[in-house]
Amino acid sequence: MDEKLIKQLVNVAIEQLNFSYAPYSGFQVGAALLTKDGDIYTGCNIENAAYTPSNCAERTAIFKAVSEGKKEFQAIAIVGGKEGVLTSYTAPCGVCRQVMMEFCDPKTFQIILATKAEDYQLFTLEELLPFGFGNENLV
Ligand code: THU
Repeated sequence: MDEKLIKQLVNVAIEQLNFSYAPYSGFQVGAALLTKDGDIYTGCNIENAAYTPSNCAERTAIFKAVSEGKKEFQAIAIVGGKEGVLTSYTAPCGVCRQVMMEFCDPKTFQIILATKAEDYQLFTLEELLPFGFGNENLV
């Protein structure tokens, strides 16, 4: 992936920390999802007093995109930290990896984990979800 685009996605994800609603965990997460046609959909985590209805930043971004007719994705940048302080990489939870599996090619979809534009690491979905279960298993 183009380095300038990666840095842009990381910076957009960092901006989303401002919108994170995380009064229970205090752990703020931001995401920036790149569609195959070059649009960027954003997401933040949204918690709930009943805990289980909470939504991760990654799923917020993916569901926003799908709800607007976009279903083909290239990459997602994810940042997170307690009170929004980015000290280490925030990898997507298992549920978010499975949601990615629904819409993304595990061999090519890029997951960008970052603490800042100058500190990031790329993984394919397959690396983070080996032997994933997807729609092809059902045919
Ligand atoms: N969270 C995300 O939004 N994405 C991740 O990749 C990991 C966890 C959120 C869920 C919850 O609001 C908070 O971080 C602590 O788990």
